[in-house]
Amino acid sequence: MKKVVVAAITCLSVSAFASVETESGRQLYLSPGKGGCATCHGETGNEPVMPMYPKIGGQMEMYLINQMQDYKLKKRKNGLFVPMEVAMEHYSDEDILQIAKYLASF
Ligand code: HEC
Repeated sequence: MKKVVVAAITCLSVSAFASVETESGRQLYLSPGKGGCATCHGETGNEPVMPMYPKIGGQMEMYLINQMQDYKLKKRKNGLFVPMEVAMEHYSDEDILQIAKYLASF
């Protein structure tokens, strides 16, 4: 019985820690006044409003960081890059790390 209780507490604290870890990224991602990410990609990044918008929730963290940095530094110029260049202008390098952590958590 004791073991079960310990296991349950461990699970709870791990998931609480995970949500604390991704909370600031979630705020940055959802923040309506800033980049409007969720307006186009949906709350978890997987509900794009247009069929030609990509699903980004659950993508690898390092990949997400690289793509966001490339738009911000105006290095990625494919397809529909314009809204992304504008969206990423508002975010610092640290913000990008936090957003990537949030999106990769799905
Ligand atoms: C106006 C709609 C719009 C907004 C707002 C927007 N995006 Fe995007 N996003 C797109 C489109 C369209 C693409 C595909 C662009 C391309 O072809 O390069 C994209 C691509 C991406 C990619 C790369 C996906 C891949 O697999 O290569 C990431 C990551 C991303 N967006 C994250 C974000 C984040 C984070 C924000 C908020 C800061 C945001 N987007 C705001 C429309 C939007």
